[in-house]
Amino acid sequence: MTAVGAVDDFADGSARRVDVDGIPVCVVRLGDEFYAIADTCSHADFSLSDGDVWADTCEIECPKHGATFSLRDGQPQTLPATQPVAVFDVTVRDDLVEVRAR
Ligand code: FES
Repeated sequence: MTAVGAVDDFADGSARRVDVDGIPVCVVRLGDEFYAIADTCSHADFSLSDGDVWADTCEIECPKHGATFSLRDGQPQTLPATQPVAVFDVTVRDDLVEVRAR
């Protein structure tokens, strides 16, 4: 696992891009829950962490064409994306957020 920041570095209800072993990862905090998915949209080369987070459905919306992805399993919920993005293990230990990207 790779530490990507302290818990308080992540604002509730928003996304932040981090680098884990050279892999861009989108980390989202929803209350006490953290999610980590691949940061690059599966539709084209745009950063999901620049998009809006929908806490009620646990999704993030790609800022380019509006596809939404489940933060739980990376599956696209709306077009134009049809392929999932990778989901990574994320844990909180000693107030540090840790991600395993491989
Ligand atoms: S680049 Fe994300 S929906 Fe098109």
